[in-house]
Amino acid sequence: MKITVVHGQVHKGNTYHITQMLLDKLNCTKEEVSEFYVNGIGDCVGCFQCVMKGENTCPHRCQIEEIIKAIEEADVIIIDSPTYVLSVSGQLKTFFDHMGYRWISHRPYPTMKQKIGVAISTTAGAGAKKTTNLIASQMFWWSVGKTYQIPITVAAMNWDQMSPERKAKAERKAVKISQSIQHKLGHVKPGIKARFMFFIMKQMHKGMDYSPIDMNYWKEKGWI
Ligand SMILES: Cc1cc2nc3c(=O)[nH]c(=O)nc-3n(C[C@H](O)[C@H](O)[C@H](O)COP(=O)(O)O)c2cc1C
Repeated sequence: MKITVVHGQVHKGNTYHITQMLLDKLNCTKEEVSEFYVNGIGDCVGCFQCVMKGENTCPHRCQIEEIIKAIEEADVIIIDSPTYVLSVSGQLKTFFDHMGYRWISHRPYPTMKQKIGVAISTTAGAGAKKTTNLIASQMFWWSVGKTYQIPITVAAMNWDQMSPERKAKAERKAVKISQSIQHKLGHVKPGIKARFMFFIMKQMHKGMDYSPIDMNYWKEKGWI
C-alpha cells in the first residue's frame, strides 16, 4: 500500500502524533510512506495560469510538483492540520489553492476515484470536525473515492498533557479506520454524489470551452 502524508504543520505536536498513530495501525513499511510538509509554498497569486495554460506555468510549480506527484501515485492520502481558528493552517490552505486545477471542474487525476483519503485534525476544544470536513471536502473535489475523518479534541496544551482516556479513544478510532482502509483498499467505488458531480461536469465541458486545456483533457481521457 502506497501512502502519501501531507502535513499541514512542520512541528511534531498533537496532530502529528495522531497521524503517526494511524500509520502504526496501518502496519506499513517505511518504504510505503512518503511524508511532505507544505510550509514555505508561495501564495497563489490568482494568475489562472494553471487552469488556462497548464499547471507547469504556475510560478510555484517547483515547490508543489513533488507533493502532487506523490498524491497521484498513492493508494491512501493522509492530510493533517491542527485546528487554527476553526479551520486548517494557512500553509495547508495555500497548498489547497495550488490544487485548484485538479478539481473535478478542471482536470481531475483519473485514478483519484480509486483512492482513499484520511483527514486528520486536533483541537484544544472546538473545531476539529470543521477542519476535517474542510480537508475531506477538498479531497472530494479532487475526486478521491472514499474519505475518512479523524477529528480529535485533545483538551490539553500538548501531547504529554492529553489524558490517557482521550489517547485511548483516539487509538480506538485509528484502529477502526485502519481496519476499514485495509478492507476497502482496491475496492473503492465513488458514491452517488461524486458520480452525479462527474455527470454535471461532463455536461459543462461538452458545452463550454472557457479553457481549451480543460476541454482537451476531458476529450483525451475519453470522458466527453
Ligand atoms: C493559531 C492557533 C489557533 C487555534 N485555534 C483554535 C480553535 O479555533 N479552537 C480550539 O479549540 N483550539 C485552537 N487552537 C489550539 C490547537 O488547535 C490545539 O492545541 C491543537 O491540538 C494543536 O495541534 P498541534 O499540537 O499539532 O499543533 C489554536 C492554536 C493556535 C496556535
